[in-house]
Amino acid sequence: MSPQSADAGPAAVATCHVIVLAAGKGRRMASTRPKVLHRMAGRSLIEHVLRAAATLSPATTTVVVGHQADVIQEAVGPGPRFVRQEAQLGTAHALLQAESAFARAEGNLVVLSGDVPRIRPVTLRRLVDAHDRARAAATVLTARLARPYGYGRLVRQRGLLASIVEEADATPAQRAIREVNSGIYVFDLAPLFATLRQIPAAGPRQERYLPALLALYRRRGLTVETLETDHPDEIRGINSQTELAEVSSLMRQGKNEELMAAGVTLEDPATTYIDADVVVGRDTVIHPGVMLEGLTTIGDRCELHAGVRIVNSTVGDDVTVNNHCVITNAHVESGARIGPFAHLRPGTVVRETARVGNFVEIKKSTLGAGSKVGHLSYLGDAALGAQVNVGAGTITCNYDGQSKHETAVEDGAFIGSGTQLVAPVTVGRAAYVAAGSCVTEDVPPGALAIARGRQENKTGWTDRKKGS
Ligand code: UD1
Ligand code: CA
Repeated sequence: MSPQSADAGPAAVATCHVIVLAAGKGRRMASTRPKVLHRMAGRSLIEHVLRAAATLSPATTTVVVGHQADVIQEAVGPGPRFVRQEAQLGTAHALLQAESAFARAEGNLVVLSGDVPRIRPVTLRRLVDAHDRARAAATVLTARLARPYGYGRLVRQRGLLASIVEEADATPAQRAIREVNSGIYVFDLAPLFATLRQIPAAGPRQERYLPALLALYRRRGLTVETLETDHPDEIRGINSQTELAEVSSLMRQGKNEELMAAGVTLEDPATTYIDADVVVGRDTVIHPGVMLEGLTTIGDRCELHAGVRIVNSTVGDDVTVNNHCVITNAHVESGARIGPFAHLRPGTVVRETARVGNFVEIKKSTLGAGSKVGHLSYLGDAALGAQVNVGAGTITCNYDGQSKHETAVEDGAFIGSGTQLVAPVTVGRAAYVAAGSCVTEDVPPGALAIARGRQENKTGWTDRKKGS
């Protein structure tokens, strides 16, 4: 029976390794930050690339770093192994630095660029499959761009790739070619490093170009395949701030479309900024100028009014956030109402159906279920129970100039307007604090605390003053 028979199972798949080139300086960014650490939709460029790469479940993942290597290594964190390219002498030279790391490896090496962040997992999968099917030595991902400026152009002869010509080296006729090199390749490891060493230095900076490998392979009769993506924008590289803005905008549009397809209403997608990792529930309505950043989750049927910014926070179902609130590292439970103009800072927890009104700032505090803090208040390092009412202009005095202290307000307590709660202090269950109090001692449950100067009325005082 032939090994290809129906019950022989799938053909063996070659081991897959990934390498990301990220050693370049990114001169055209004109920035002090390494290019691959610029951010887009809440992740650095290299994080986008590594996430896409991870979907291939590679046996190993390697990142080539050089310019500001330590900064990149620190930002990426543990996971991939790092290889150094001390002098940035071109993409082929960068890959060559990993030779000893692959001394005993075999199978496929998928090469990605740290500055091509929108590459889709499905395309990487197709590229590797096409490479395996053709048993190729190299397979290049290409795209047809309306504006191919800046990319290496695919020069074909009788339909087959003959070479890749960089923008700077291209003739006017070659510049008119719209099929470009994505900078993403799959290589069979067997012939790779020996041939890489033979690439000569070229161009104005005497660099060794990785695309030159393909022409060398062709001349030696090795199989070089190409795969053209049907989503050309996914291979857009980022070399300048303008490209960063353009590609960010494309990424944003993609995210917005995904959310709208899942039943989220965006009143004005053009002014809605939602990071890649944000989750938004069905029937939530998002008004213009809203920004949802980082690891943020918004529940179903929420309403986020114009000018709201929410960062690394979770918001439950049926929550209304009125205009111009800033919410960072906070947790807001279902049915709550926030704002307008509220500031929920890190460590804030707003329990179910609680209300936070205008010009209220809350830091590292919990507001219990059904509690209300309606107007012009500051709560810091405070634990408020359920059904607490905090009057306008209440302030927790949590800082004595040296350390922070905690305030506790138990269930059902009522804090009159204009109260200062000097921490550490506890207001007991169902206790009342009279308006204008400066509370420095614990208030027992059920008690009324009055802590303010007594009012004295001097009758006839105005007339006496005028008469003098
Ligand atoms: C490269 C390709 C070009 C392709 C384009 C796709 C070369 C010579 N040209 O051009 O054909 O169309 O990508 O985006 O490869 N890097 C290093 N070490 C170096 C130089 C670069 O690690 O010495 C890294 C960079 O950090 C970057 C990637 O390689 O992540 C690509 O380098 P870049 O200079 O951006 O190449 P392009 O000019 O865009
Ligand atoms: Ca580039």
